[in-house]
Amino acid sequence: MPYMKQASPGLQFNEQSIFERGAPGRTAASLPALDVPEISVDRALGVLARKAPAGLPEVSEPEVMRHFTRISQWNYSIDTNFYPLGSCTMKHNPRVNEWAARLPGFANLHPYAPARGIQGALELMARLRDALAEICGMDDVSLQPAAGAQGELTGLMMIRAHFAKLGKSPRKVLIPETAHGTNAASCTLNGLVAVPFKGSDNGACDPADVARLLEEHKGEVAAIMITNPNTLGLFERHLSEIAKMVHDAGALVYGDGANLNALMGRARPGDLGIDVMQFNLHKTFTTPHGGGGPGCGPVAFKSFLSPYQPAPVVVKRVGAGGETLFELDDTRPESVGRVRSFVGNFGMMVRAYTYLREMGPEGLKAATDLAVLNANYLAASLKDVLPLAYDQLCMHEAIFSDRDVKKATGVQTLDIAKRLIDYGFHPPTVYFPLVVAGAMMMEPTETETKQTIDGYVAAMKNILEEAKNDPEMVKKAPHDTRTGRLDEARAARKPVLRFHPKSAT
Ligand SMILES: Cc1ncc(COP(=O)(O)O)c(C=O)c1O
Repeated sequence: MPYMKQASPGLQFNEQSIFERGAPGRTAASLPALDVPEISVDRALGVLARKAPAGLPEVSEPEVMRHFTRISQWNYSIDTNFYPLGSCTMKHNPRVNEWAARLPGFANLHPYAPARGIQGALELMARLRDALAEICGMDDVSLQPAAGAQGELTGLMMIRAHFAKLGKSPRKVLIPETAHGTNAASCTLNGLVAVPFKGSDNGACDPADVARLLEEHKGEVAAIMITNPNTLGLFERHLSEIAKMVHDAGALVYGDGANLNALMGRARPGDLGIDVMQFNLHKTFTTPHGGGGPGCGPVAFKSFLSPYQPAPVVVKRVGAGGETLFELDDTRPESVGRVRSFVGNFGMMVRAYTYLREMGPEGLKAATDLAVLNANYLAASLKDVLPLAYDQLCMHEAIFSDRDVKKATGVQTLDIAKRLIDYGFHPPTVYFPLVVAGAMMMEPTETETKQTIDGYVAAMKNILEEAKNDPEMVKKAPHDTRTGRLDEARAARKPVLRFHPKSAT
């Protein structure tokens, strides 16, 4: 039976920007007649009063509704279909999390409300903090950072503060070449220097390389930053040995915990020798991706780093009547300071806590097992037609290379990714990690069914057949979308990001 595509071309509206819609004087508001004396804006605001209207859209309510509904239909989302982006972990966002985050007692909190008025929220933060610490085997957690990358930045700030307290300022941070780009960026923002090194032939860090680098940069190494499982989807099997060597050299071990969704409930970074790490709540604890924010990237640490954590810190005290009281403690003289306004993105904390409570310890373990099972099932189903970059058991994601298909047909990773869109699937992560030529990084996550993965595998196999029979067609994909293939280089170099009224005429 021929393969049936999951998507077909359909009616989609071309949409002008909202500024090009409407007409002067049109409005979506209907206000009652003024029942107080009218005042002059010029007199009330003086020089601050506008000389000309702000140029806001003048549109009716149906126009607004249609505009935003139509452009929302252009989106591909995790709620539409399979979204196998490796490294980014597009996980289903359980609706119970959304329900909890919208409870008026949480959603309507004022950020300046005094601690005595937000006891429930502070207790939720304390409980989430304790649960995360237990899951990763660390002593304490700060929930303040707003993303994984900001968690990295904060963790490295704490490492710097630790050495400053000892009267030292080592500047170098060893980072394997497979690492996410944010690792090196976090170093640079901290005034530290990233020292990259290659992984071994089997994709993991080699203790011999680390030993050599520690010797070469003796006394100058502040830390190693290590991602486990790494961005090749492989377990860093020598992590404990490497951590011991790094500690013996007087340096610390930073763990990029972004991929904890492959370990949670099965192994604890703290037990493997990590001193400080970040979580990406959107990758492991099902909070939504915030398009770069507002997210939450808590940082977990061993107790010797506790004085340096961001302030304020939620503390639990016993009141005069023996009752439990939660407070926000700002008196932290050695703290690296505040890294995010107020207490961080509280809505994300509610969602992550809800997920933890819904899953329980057994559920979290099952999520990890299924994430790893699904990735290995996908790898095993495709590897005969698309080579794996490292042909071994993987953790939560599998990385394939376009080397064979490119050599045989000229069709490469980008073409396959674009053609997948015609089949109704979001492409995987492409050309990352950089150490794999023509990489396609696929991460199914734990909630995808066998049928969904089978459908995706069948689409991939079909595309590889098309590449043999009609490579030019694949190279011109996508064909069924609103717009055809875009000039991505031009879009990146000359982005048009603002609407200018003159260009509309
Ligand atoms: C391994 C790794 N480290 C760091 C990050 C950065 O996290 P965030 O996007 O939350 O800033 C990511 C993002 O997915 C990642 O995969």
